Amino acid sequence: MSTNIRPLIAGNWKMNGFASESATELKELISRVIEREDTPNCDILICPPALLVRELASLAEGTGVSIGGQDCHANEKGAHTGDLSAEMLKSAGATYVLVGHSERRTDHYESNDIVKAKAEAALRAGLIAVVCVGETLDERESGATLSVITDQVKNSLPQGATAANTVVAYEPVWAIGTGKTPTPEDVAEVHAHIRKDLQTLLSDADGVRLLYGGSVKGSNAQELMSLDHVNGGLVGGASLKAADFWPIVETGL
Ligand code: PGA
Repeated sequence: MSTNIRPLIAGNWKMNGFASESATELKELISRVIEREDTPNCDILICPPALLVRELASLAEGTGVSIGGQDCHANEKGAHTGDLSAEMLKSAGATYVLVGHSERRTDHYESNDIVKAKAEAALRAGLIAVVCVGETLDERESGATLSVITDQVKNSLPQGATAANTVVAYEPVWAIGTGKTPTPEDVAEVHAHIRKDLQTLLSDADGVRLLYGGSVKGSNAQELMSLDHVNGGLVGGASLKAADFWPIVETGL
């Protein structure tokens, strides 16, 4: 990792995992963390489907592995059928929540304003918000990547964001689940750009963790995680099995 910011290696299980298999994978991950005698030099996070948060959070308590939600509603409670609030995630044992993942932005038409409101809900509830940003392939090919990212960063970040309560995850939409990754130069360029954007917004911008996500796996993690301004990863497919996730976690240890 490139600085003395404490890295975060996060797994996003998306809509995968039933209770028993998820508990097995989480226990396997936890035992790998515990078997290393040294305390990890990075934070480790798993974001399972919301139904599993309570059970997995209780399994993970005190182990160095944190549990987070994948989304939350902006309100604390009310008539919002099917939604979950940040306060509910918190009371189930979550300490983080992802907001603005591109699958939410696309499948649920979430605008920057909605993402920002959700991130503010996370802070209100005492969760760390992981705000996701990223360009589509069309946007990359038309040369709009940096302006799209600036727009998303400026308009999705919560009021009151600090390095302690907010993480930014750069996930190019075209790299998610496709096995394609941007070149290291492209990742470094976008991360440096996000850092500059943050410097115009936050007084402690230099301490904000910037994660890269999109087809991170054991074989490319070391290279991606060692880039300037990459302070960890947000991992989908390769986080589902502890054996696949572990080599990625090790890049932060
Ligand atoms: P992937 O997903 O690692 O499967 O590409 C990353 C993500 O969507 O967070």
